[in-house]
Amino acid sequence: MRVALSTASFVLLAAAATYTSASPLKKRQAFQPAAFDTWVWQDVSGTQCADGSSTGIAYNAHADYNTKDLLIWFDSGGACRDANTCFYNPTAWNLNGYTNYTFQNYARPALESQILMTTRDPSRNNPWANSHMLFVPYCTGDIHGGNNVITYPNAPRPIYHKGYTNFQSIVSLASSSVPWIENIYVAGSSAGCYGAVINYVAVRQAWPSATVHLVADSCEGVPGFLDAIPSWNLYQPSGNSCPDCVQGQFNSIVPALAQANPRSRFAAISYTVDDFLPYYMGTSLSDFAALIKQYFINITNTAGNMAKTFSVSGQAHGVFIRDTPGSSTDSALAAWLASMKNLGSNFTSQSV
Ligand SMILES: *[C@@H]1O[C@H](CO)[C@@H](O)[C@H](O)[C@H]1NC(C)=O
Ligand SMILES: *[C@@H]1O[C@H](CO)[C@@H](O)[C@H](O)[C@H]1NC(C)=O
Ligand SMILES: *[C@@H]1O[C@H](CO)[C@@H](O)[C@H](O)[C@H]1NC(C)=O
Repeated sequence: MRVALSTASFVLLAAAATYTSASPLKKRQAFQPAAFDTWVWQDVSGTQCADGSSTGIAYNAHADYNTKDLLIWFDSGGACRDANTCFYNPTAWNLNGYTNYTFQNYARPALESQILMTTRDPSRNNPWANSHMLFVPYCTGDIHGGNNVITYPNAPRPIYHKGYTNFQSIVSLASSSVPWIENIYVAGSSAGCYGAVINYVAVRQAWPSATVHLVADSCEGVPGFLDAIPSWNLYQPSGNSCPDCVQGQFNSIVPALAQANPRSRFAAISYTVDDFLPYYMGTSLSDFAALIKQYFINITNTAGNMAKTFSVSGQAHGVFIRDTPGSSTDSALAAWLASMKNLGSNFTSQSV
């Protein structure tokens, strides 16, 4: 049932509503999208970009209000870790703020016509074409995982590495707005891939009765990577939410989350040779390619058979970002993701 209100927004109306948890129909009235099957920007108070300015989210609500699938897509865009990479020769995007304008001009075209998982174009066979979608912008330089304010030596002003705390605000708003969701797919490419992996636990906790799956495109870590940039104060899953996660070791997280969440599926995607991450990680293309290969073997062998990989032969970074719509890789990836999404299917690792 859809309720049309002129004061449509993504805000929580639940506090004012008089429903009980036994009334799912009324619960749905808590979410009043401004429009359906199109992207809508919404400012979110309490969020901070690298320059301290506030940002928001974009959502794309599907017209079928009964949809119980939600895709959460984390934006990509590099990283920064000192005055040079954050200010003088920036290696991260949107450090000077992220607004509706940024979203409309830079993110939206890619969401609509490039990235397979976020397109509603029927010719692409996107398994999430009929899902609700939430876009998490990236403007903190900290792979969506930081919680620190720091003035780097020789920097003109502080940097707000607040990706983790921003997502806490976002996920709190989103889970109270669409509490009925049953299947959540946390996903991203590059910096957004790290963001999806690191923030998986926050999504699990925000929707305790939903099943949360992961699609991680092009993120791996050299040994100790999670501890390598203390200025980010990166969140690391641990304890009850990820008993097998190993401190500092990014590559331990996906297999460990698969162990801790046996009903959920985990998909890792990469080119065989990533030509971007090795520069951030201070290693060679060939050593990093060997690391990806072993990491993908580890994922494939995770007990439970719910974590698998999709490997694209070639040298590039970000399969969803670089993939050509309509190509054979695009259709193979769509078919593989459909198998991942269908919990009754035989989910296996694939190389193309
Ligand atoms: C965002 O920008 C679009 C395009 O300019 C505009 O139609 C929309 O009303 C804006 N949304 C908000 C919340 O300002
Ligand atoms: C593969 O798994 C082993 C055992 O957990 C671990 O020691 C190793 O670091 C992992 N390698 C990669 C590249 O993930
Ligand atoms: C699943 O697929 C793999 C690889 O194609 C195959 O070896 C295996 O027998 C299949 N398992 C089932 C239960 O169909």
